[in-house]
Formats: sequence, C-alpha cells, structure tokens
Amino acid sequence: MFVVGLTGGIGSGKSTVADAFAELGVPVIDTDVIARELTAPGGAALDAIRAVFGEAVMQADGTLDRATLRRLVFADAAARHRLEAILHPAIQQRVEQALAKLTARYALVVIPLLVETGTYRDMLQRTLVVDCPEALQVTRVMARSGLVRDEVMAILAAQATRAERLAVADDVILNTASPEALRAEVANLHQRYQGLAAASPP
Ligand SMILES: Nc1ncnc2c1ncn2[C@@H]1O[C@H](COP(=O)(O)OP(=O)(O)O)[C@@H](O)[C@H]1O
Ligand SMILES: [Mg+2]
Repeated sequence: MFVVGLTGGIGSGKSTVADAFAELGVPVIDTDVIARELTAPGGAALDAIRAVFGEAVMQADGTLDRATLRRLVFADAAARHRLEAILHPAIQQRVEQALAKLTARYALVVIPLLVETGTYRDMLQRTLVVDCPEALQVTRVMARSGLVRDEVMAILAAQATRAERLAVADDVILNTASPEALRAEVANLHQRYQGLAAASPP
C-alpha cells in the first residue's frame, strides 16, 4: 500500500487538508484521533498516564484533565518526552492495524509530530507538509481554541520549525490562500498520488 504521511505545525491546516482528501474518497487515519481514543475514559493509555503524572492530571470524575496535562508538558520537555513515550508506540501500533485493514490503493496518515517523533518514516512512501507562516498559525489557533497567544507560542516553540518540516517534505501545500484554493491543490495531489500508487509495487 502507498502511504502518504501528512504533517504540519499546529494550525497550519492539516485537518482541513485531510478532510479534503477524505472528500475525494481517500482513507484517512489521524494520529490525533487515535491519541484522543487512547486517553478517553477506558482508553488504553490512561492508566499509564495516571501512573506517571499522578492525580494532578486527572479530574474528579476520573477523566483526563487535558488542559493541565497540556500545560505541564509544554512547560517541561522531560514531562513531554515521558508522555510521548507512553503514547507514540501505542499510536503507531494502531496506525499499522488500521492500514492493514484497508483495501484502497493509497491512504493518508495525519501525523502532527512526524518530524519530532522521527519513527514513522519506515511506514511512509511519501511525506506531505502543510506549511504557512507562524503568524497565521497563531491567529488560526487562537480563533479556533480560545488559547491565548502565549499558550499558542509555547506549543509552537515545542514543535519542529517550518524549515525542519520542509526538509523532509516530498510535497508541500502552502496554505495561505482560500479554502477553495486548498481543495484545488489537494485534488492535484490526489491525481499524482493515484498515479504513484498505481506504479508502486504492491
Ligand atoms: N486556507 C484557509 N483559510 C481559512 N481558514 C483556514 C484555512 N486553512 C485552515 N483554516 C482554519 O484554520 C484553523 C486551523 O486549521 P486546521 O486544519 O484545524 O489545522 P491543524 O489541523 O493543522 O491544526 C481551522 O479553524 C481551519 O478552519
Ligand atoms: Mg488538526
């Protein structure tokens, strides 16, 4: 199977791009969605997170206090690495399971931390990066999330830089124009990926 990894910084437009591929019928596996499932009530990673981070990151009703955990890991790189060590192997395993069930010629896997994690390369035939200036990322995320500027900046600072992402890109979508322009770019890439998938060994 021909697997395209989609990455980009927070607010760059990954989910918007992934939705456009999905509208064209491409199977989309989103590691953010998997991470949420793993940390939802009853999720496979919840006990480990509780064991490592303690009751401070749990709410009274036994669900994860995501805001507290986010603050904690974006303020402390060691804590972030501990969380990633719990989540990433579990996420990767689920991606592999999901890919194994697909019959499509090619699929898209959304991996926000593709560059930071560095362990997805073997799984991917191609890397697509959604790129945009950081100022645009910040305004988009503030509008979407209700986070204040400093919180968004802390997340950006913890992520790979634009240059680091572009260095691993096979294809780049510069997402600074309209959603319509974005869909047109996705349609072009979809054509290209169908061709590449058809030409690649099974
Ligand atoms: N080209 C665009 N024009 C206007 N708004 C956009 C565009 N691309 C993304 N957005 C908006 O910016 C926000 C962040 O985009 P999203 O796809 O959620 O980014 P990511 O998944 O990379 O964090 C969303 O609210 C989305 O609707
Ligand atoms: Mg997203």
